[in-house]
Amino acid sequence: MSRRRLLSGVQPSGKIHLGNYLGALRQFIDSQSDEGTERFLFIANYHALTSLSDRAIVREYSLEVARTYLAVGLDPERTLIFLQSDVPEVCELAWFLSTVTPMGLLERATSYKDKIARGLTPNHALFAYPVLQAADILIYDSHLVPVGRDQKQHIEMTRDMAIKFNATFGETFIVPEPQIQENLALIPGTDGQKMSKSYGNTIDLFDERKAMKAQISSIVTDSKGLDEPKDPDGCTVFQLYRYFATPDEIAEMAERYRAGGYGYGHAKMALLDKIQDYMAPYRERYRQLSDNPDRVIEVLREGAKKARAVARATTDRARDAVGML
Ligand code: ADP
Ligand code: TRP
Repeated sequence: MSRRRLLSGVQPSGKIHLGNYLGALRQFIDSQSDEGTERFLFIANYHALTSLSDRAIVREYSLEVARTYLAVGLDPERTLIFLQSDVPEVCELAWFLSTVTPMGLLERATSYKDKIARGLTPNHALFAYPVLQAADILIYDSHLVPVGRDQKQHIEMTRDMAIKFNATFGETFIVPEPQIQENLALIPGTDGQKMSKSYGNTIDLFDERKAMKAQISSIVTDSKGLDEPKDPDGCTVFQLYRYFATPDEIAEMAERYRAGGYGYGHAKMALLDKIQDYMAPYRERYRQLSDNPDRVIEVLREGAKKARAVARATTDRARDAVGML
């Protein structure tokens, strides 16, 4: 039986934070041990042009995502990692797909409406974003697309395009399924809201102790005094600690909260120690990769070579289906 192919894309929109890592990346990395699946993960730098127009930033963020992913354990032997722009066939396929995409479908896209509401210029690329995303998915004959809830509509649109294309031009594409992690916990940021780049409440992955200490010290807690008993479950520090500590350590900290005589400052230092220890080997690898961008680019090019072979075959099928001589 052929293996199921998982595909996902990530926009290079800045530094990866602890919320991204615990909320999405860690599961993706864990899935690498599943022999029954293949993984393609690309950096959506064409898509990033809908919000970035500084070439240095587009390049830097693309490398930043790649080196972070490699540092925390994405293994190029088990996950193809590549740049969207290294497979330009995807733009050709997007054109074919746009011929089966009703305007009304794109007009209903909530992410388009949200982006306009946030002040992005309503240009054609932003409007056509879901068509390029559909091409990203269909071009690799993907079965499953693991994404956050906000991307569900885009995957449904992809399915619509695949079904309509197949009906119009003959069976060409695999109709993919979304894999939405509904029960995914939202990782809180330093202010207790969802950790997000846009809220300025993030904890970075690879900071040295001093810088990370400043971020962790800024986590908002209630104003209970040192001696008072505290509720671990309502506390952001404890919630984050749970992701890094062993079950025994978690139980012990909960006990200390409830007993009193244990301050938020203590808990924050325990959290700091845990994250520092956990990240130490990753931080080292991140540093090495930062000093060696050529190595990162080599991995990306190698990934693209394999991905492009799949893309070429799908694009040829589509060209033939629509009647390109
Ligand atoms: P941001 O909100 O910082 O811009 P993105 O929207 O780029 O983050 O999210 C990238 C990935 O990380 C998505 O898969 C998203 O579901 C996940 N993610 C982002 N923030 C969190 C969070 N606070 N908790 C859990 N997962 C998150
Ligand atoms: N739109 C996705 C996001 O903002 C990124 C993306 C682009 C993507 N192409 C994709 C995700 C294909 C999954 C599959 O997060």
